[in-house]
Amino acid sequence: MTVPQVTVIGGGMIVHDQILPSLYQMQRQGVIGEISVCASHGRTVKALAEAEGIRRAFPGQSFRPYPGPSGDLDKAHPELYREIIARMPPRNIVVVAVPDQLHYDVVMTALGANQHVCCVKPLVLTARESVVIEQEAYSRGLAVGIEYHKRFDDRSLMARRRYRAGLFGDFRLGAACLLEKWYYRHSNFQNWFTAENSDAFVYIGCHYVDLVHFITGLLPVSVSVYGIRDKFPNGNEGFLWTDARVIWSNGACLNVQNALGFPDEGPGTNTQGLVLYCAGANNGALLSHSDQYRGLKYSYTSKSSDPGSTIYAEPSPDYFQYVDLGGPGLVPVGYGYRSIDYILRACVRVESEPDLARRQQALKELDAAGVMATPANSRYNEQVIEAARESILNGGQEVRLRG
Ligand SMILES: NC(=O)c1ccc[n+]([C@@H]2O[C@H](COP(=O)([O-])OP(=O)(O)OC[C@H]3O[C@@H](n4cnc5c(N)ncnc54)[C@H](O)[C@@H]3O)[C@@H](O)[C@H]2O)c1
Repeated sequence: MTVPQVTVIGGGMIVHDQILPSLYQMQRQGVIGEISVCASHGRTVKALAEAEGIRRAFPGQSFRPYPGPSGDLDKAHPELYREIIARMPPRNIVVVAVPDQLHYDVVMTALGANQHVCCVKPLVLTARESVVIEQEAYSRGLAVGIEYHKRFDDRSLMARRRYRAGLFGDFRLGAACLLEKWYYRHSNFQNWFTAENSDAFVYIGCHYVDLVHFITGLLPVSVSVYGIRDKFPNGNEGFLWTDARVIWSNGACLNVQNALGFPDEGPGTNTQGLVLYCAGANNGALLSHSDQYRGLKYSYTSKSSDPGSTIYAEPSPDYFQYVDLGGPGLVPVGYGYRSIDYILRACVRVESEPDLARRQQALKELDAAGVMATPANSRYNEQVIEAARESILNGGQEVRLRG
C-alpha cells in the first residue's frame, strides 16, 4: 500500500464536520488516494457531495458516492456497505462512521476483507466484541484505530506528560461535563439514539472517561449512571440527560454529566470541561480544563442559518477550523484533523512493514505507546459502556466492570 484508497461507511454529521475534510486534506498532501463514501441513503451522500463549506475548502476534490446519484435517493440500502467493502483491493483503509450499534458489523466486515480500520468512538458496545476485533485484526496484521479525538488536543497531551511526570500527584476527585445543544434532538439522532440503544453518557461521556485514563493511566473499576428519559420530536424516547459516577483503580471518583440539552442560544457549539482535584505528598493539586471557552468572544452582526448558531459566540479554535493559507481552497486545522491524520498514518505505517510478524510487532508498539486508542489498549471504554447500560436500565445502581 503506497497510497491507500479510503472508504468511509456513513455520511452523517461527523463525516461532514470532521472526517471527510480531514481525508480531503490528506488526499491533497498525497498521503491517501481515492476516497469513497457509502451511506444507507442516496440523499445522504448527495448532500455531502454538495456541502458548500467542504466544496469551498476543497475545490476540484470529490469522492465516489454509494448509493450512486441515479435511482431513488430515499431508498434504504443498509447492506450496500458489504458490497462496497468487498470490492476494495485488500489492505487499504475503511473508516467506520455509522451509529454506535452498527460499528461491530461494519468493522468485522472490513477486517474480513483485509482492510485497516479507523472507527469513530465508541469502537463497540461490549468488551467481548472488542476482543474479537482485536484478535481478528492482529491475526491479519491490520491496524484498528479508535477516533477519540480529544486525545489529540494539545492540552490533553500536555496534561498527560505532566501527570505522568508526577506533577499533579494522585487524582482523587473530579468532574467532567459535555452537553450538546438542544437542537441535536431534531437531527437523525432521534432515529437511533433511543433508550434501548444508547444514552447521553455512552454517547459523549465516554470522551472524558477515555481522557481521564489517557491523562492519568488509571483504570475505571465501577460505574453508576442515573438517566432521565425525555422524548425526541418524533416521539422516540431516549436517556437525554445523564449523571454518572465512575470509580477508578486508585479509589478516585469522577462525576460526569451529559445531555442533549445545552441551550441553543448558549455560546459555543456545546459546553464541556474537566476538573481533577489531586493529592500530592503534602498538598493538593489541580488540573482544570475549560474545553468550551477557549478565550474567544465573538459577537456578530447577525447569526448564520446553521442550527445552534448564535449572535454571541465563543468558538473553539482548537477542534476543527478551516484557515486560509493562500489557497487553493482552505486548510483544516485542529485536533479533529490531527486525530484522523494520526490514525490513517498509523495504518500506512503498519502496512509498510514487509511481513506479518513485523506488522504484528508494529501493532504491539501502537498498543504500548497508548496515544492512538486501539481495541487492546482502550477496552476499559467498552467495559464502562457495558456497565453503564446495565446501571442506567436499573435506576443508576453501581455496576462493577467485567473483563
Ligand atoms: N465526538 C466524537 O467523537 C463523535 C461525534 C459525533 C459522532 N460520533 C460517532 O459517529 C457515529 C455517527 O454519528 P453521526 O453524528 O455522524 O450520526 P448521523 O446520524 O449524523 O449519521 C449516521 C450515518 O450513518 C449512516 N448509516 C446508518 N446505517 C448505515 C448502513 N447500514 N450503511 C451505511 N451507512 C449507514 C447514515 O446514512 C448516516 O449517514 C456514531 O458512532 C457517533 O457516536 C463521534
